[in-house]
Amino acid sequence: MRPSRRLERIPPYLFAELERKAEAKRAAGVDVISLGIGDPDTPTYQPIVAAAQRAVADPSTHTYPSNRGRREFREAVAAFYERRFGVVLDPETEVMAAIGAKECIFNVNLAFLDPGDVALASDPGYPVYTAGPLLAGAEPVLMALEAQRGFAPDLEAIGPAQLQRARLMFLNYPNNPTGAVVPAGLFEQVVALARRNGILVVHDNAYSETTYDGYVAPSFLATPGAKEVGVEVFSLSKGYNMTGWRCAAIVGNAGAIEQYWRLKSNVDSGNFEAVQLAGAAALAPDLDDDVRAMNAVYRRRRDLVCEALAQARVDVTVPKGTIYVWAPVPAGFQSAAAYCEHVLERAGVVISPGGAYGPSGEGFFRISLTTPDERLLEAVARLRRL
Ligand SMILES: Cc1ncc(COP(=O)(O)O)c(C=O)c1O
Repeated sequence: MRPSRRLERIPPYLFAELERKAEAKRAAGVDVISLGIGDPDTPTYQPIVAAAQRAVADPSTHTYPSNRGRREFREAVAAFYERRFGVVLDPETEVMAAIGAKECIFNVNLAFLDPGDVALASDPGYPVYTAGPLLAGAEPVLMALEAQRGFAPDLEAIGPAQLQRARLMFLNYPNNPTGAVVPAGLFEQVVALARRNGILVVHDNAYSETTYDGYVAPSFLATPGAKEVGVEVFSLSKGYNMTGWRCAAIVGNAGAIEQYWRLKSNVDSGNFEAVQLAGAAALAPDLDDDVRAMNAVYRRRRDLVCEALAQARVDVTVPKGTIYVWAPVPAGFQSAAAYCEHVLERAGVVISPGGAYGPSGEGFFRISLTTPDERLLEAVARLRRL
């Protein structure tokens, strides 16, 4: 079956490919440990599940959802943003529900890009920052995130011709896959650049609640002027162990959110309102302890992985946020993909090759911390024996 030209422009989805290889190994009888996908292994916090159970039994959630999002959810998001980030949002015009950040970011591309337009995308970055523009018929232009700049893009390196065509910019801190937190002053520089060039900044805030060592991640919208030029996509997937629920919000610039709504009302029918009520329960202050306890688990795993890598003489930077460790590929391998193949073949461990997140990820690999401690320890021991 011949796919559209748009679809032909994008490579197969990274994680689907990784899973296929791991499955083939498993079928061959290998005890494969996957440190590939960032999908929390711990259940959704109990109060959220209880709220969902009540909501499912409530007939008011059984009809088509409101496409803007149920009022309780939008109000909970606004209250959370004020309490957590000091950002005041109008739940009527500055908050909308989304069926996960991935859906939302993809649709933002459709809402704002025409053929010939450019979307500036962090490289390495979450794959939808490049697949989205391509599927919208536009062009992703990569902004390299390099270790020596603290994984900040060099805004001055973006050429004037590209800036002129740029309509969107995708940023993400705490950052997947590098684990970096936002370098001081970056958000302010981004606001100034976006203002000068009429760019809509899309800050993907998937990991703000997953941080360590006393680091508290800010919202992009807390930057002066950010709401004039940007939106933030806040996902409940990682911080609340809710990847399966598909629950996120897009917040910020009211004009941009209105266009997102215009697009979305033609594309889908919103997310199940019982999920939104569960999301509202997740954002209440009494859930903060669950989030803290979860972060303690990830911190322990992070330390375990980083210590093992350091012992194996891998020069790893200990991340202050996210559920990932990003480390350089040992010498002697032609590419990150070659190293990851080797690790799967010889150790039965799935890790992600950095190049799959963009060319600037080449030379690195990513370990996800979403595996129970015993399995993580076993995987790390296997890596050390390689
Ligand atoms: C940076 C980033 N954004 C978005 C997502 C997807 O979030 P959601 O589950 O809300 O679609 C992920 C998932 O790995 C991610 O790493």
